[in-house]
Amino acid sequence: MILLMEITRTAVVTGGAHGIGAGIARRFAADGLAVALVDIDRERASSTAEEINASGGRAIAIGADIADPDAATSAVHTAAEELGGVGVLVNNAGFARDSVLPEMTRKQWNDVIAVHLDAAFHTTQAAHSYMRTAGWGRIINISSISALGTPGRVNYSAAKAGLLGYTKALALELAPDGITANAIAPGFIVSDMTAATAKRLGRDFEEHQRIAASSIPVGRVGQPEDIAHAAAFFAHPDAGFITGQVLYVSGGVHG
Ligand code: NAI
Repeated sequence: MILLMEITRTAVVTGGAHGIGAGIARRFAADGLAVALVDIDRERASSTAEEINASGGRAIAIGADIADPDAATSAVHTAAEELGGVGVLVNNAGFARDSVLPEMTRKQWNDVIAVHLDAAFHTTQAAHSYMRTAGWGRIINISSISALGTPGRVNYSAAKAGLLGYTKALALELAPDGITANAIAPGFIVSDMTAATAKRLGRDFEEHQRIAASSIPVGRVGQPEDIAHAAAFFAHPDAGFITGQVLYVSGGVHG
């Protein structure tokens, strides 16, 4: 019983240094979870963890390139040692490497598949050992509305759609272990990723957000807190009857 209570309050968030991941980490900490921020940007992960600790939460930073299978696996084991288990895993880290099909390089394809899809396999396999022992777990995969197809992003769309099939298979396979698996598909969220897209298009970021908002039914772009709210819902101990689901958090846009 003690183990069960402890593990429900431990979380690993990949890409937790910044953007959506940092938003999820802050929300989890506010909800009383101890959070490990696993990020390639160790310095920024440390400052986000310090900020969480300064406001009364509990967070640690672990520097790792999760596209490296061994680094992804050992980051999860380190988190488990430091926090006393891994009850909640959020596969969030990632980036886009956009290009139209004829010009997409093998590196652009491979890098995007590795950071989103391959890494989610490696972190989940490592976290599963702790969840299975505890008989409890919450896996949350951050997909995208691009899973439904975005031109100029065949690599990213394939990775994000792959995460949906991955989530549904995990949900069925791990349900007997008391583990749920769900996906969140964000729409436009203000972060470094969307700022980089604006820069690539030669647009001012504010202007880019205004243009994006004009085609979002709720009339605004999203913030990391919007995704954090959905993640907190799936991570909650009361959400044990919800598994294999995809929640579009996109202000009404479905691709
Ligand atoms: P971001 O660029 O603000 O944050 C991504 C984080 O992942 C950064 O802290 C970065 O250092 C980390 N990261 C990148 N590569 C890594 C690696 N190899 N190993 C460890 N950490 C790594 O981006 P954002 O927007 O917060 O994205 C988070 C997730 O949300 C991504 O999976 C992205 O595809 C997804 N998403 C974002 C949307 C948006 O509009 N911002 C929309 C739909 C999905």
